[in-house]
Amino acid sequence: MSVPVRDNRYPHRHLLGIDGLSADEIGYLLDVSDSYVDLNRKVDKKQTGLRGQTLINLFFENSTRTRTSFELAGKRLGSDVINMSVAASAIKKGETLLDTAMTLNAMHPDVLVVRHPESGAVKLLSEKVECAVINAGDGSHEHPTQALLDALTIRRRRGRLDGLVVAICGDILHSRVARSNIHLLNVMGARVRLVAPPTLLPTAAVRLGAEVFNDMRAGLADCDIVMMLRLQTERMQGRFVPSTREYYRFYGLDSEKLALARPDALIMHPGPMNRGVEIDSQLADDITRSVILDQVELGVAVRMACLEVLSGNRRRRSIESAVA
Ligand code: NCD
Repeated sequence: MSVPVRDNRYPHRHLLGIDGLSADEIGYLLDVSDSYVDLNRKVDKKQTGLRGQTLINLFFENSTRTRTSFELAGKRLGSDVINMSVAASAIKKGETLLDTAMTLNAMHPDVLVVRHPESGAVKLLSEKVECAVINAGDGSHEHPTQALLDALTIRRRRGRLDGLVVAICGDILHSRVARSNIHLLNVMGARVRLVAPPTLLPTAAVRLGAEVFNDMRAGLADCDIVMMLRLQTERMQGRFVPSTREYYRFYGLDSEKLALARPDALIMHPGPMNRGVEIDSQLADDITRSVILDQVELGVAVRMACLEVLSGNRRRRSIESAVA
């Protein structure tokens, strides 16, 4: 079976961030993602729509979920997938990011999936290559496919995003997941609350279009979704919280604080989780409230959709340029 031909409602070459995308473009990516969920639950999942195409996963930072799910997504659509390990690459010999990009570009990949510790590095790279580029997380800037899979998880559970109150809690300052989610939820009509100690909030937090809370109990009151974030210690220079024990007491999600949210409020976390730091271990595993593993499952569908849509755009462009 080949990839279905759909309307071109996401006309871009790359997926670098959520900022700047319209509600229609986001809704379209979510609809295409939805169409892959059932397929991924079947025993026979193999599609051939991306046969002959090459996807390169280029990760300059650690990853479990994101890298694996891009690999699965590419393979399920029939693409060849190469995982570039930075530890074993010429980058360790002093090659610059752009030289690496140009080298890979010369081998004609169709899609580059890039994660990099510097905000803006993925965009810079996308300007130097001919293939489609997907940002798999750049510094504390954006992580668009994570926001899409979070939105798909909420939409499938609640039937909508519009009008829901979403509390994003924890290390907002260093979180690309928070930034992409704020953009997406605002565009889709949800109400965003940011819940964190002042040290873990960006100075211009209110300008992001969210309500800001330093008191977690007030921030969780009557919300529909509780999205917990990890303390991104690898991005911290110096100490941002007095101790993880104290942090858990004031900002960790436990059943007492969760009781202030709506009785059916969903618990989300992009992973990796630090149990007992930002979330109580039992709550994280409570399948009546926690949709953390749904997020992982839907991540594959979202990445299949992004690969399908960007590769369709690439094909269209090459046909148009051949005709011109
Ligand atoms: C997140 C990331 O890398 O930004 N993880 C992920 O992609 N699932 C969040 C994190 O590392 O805490």
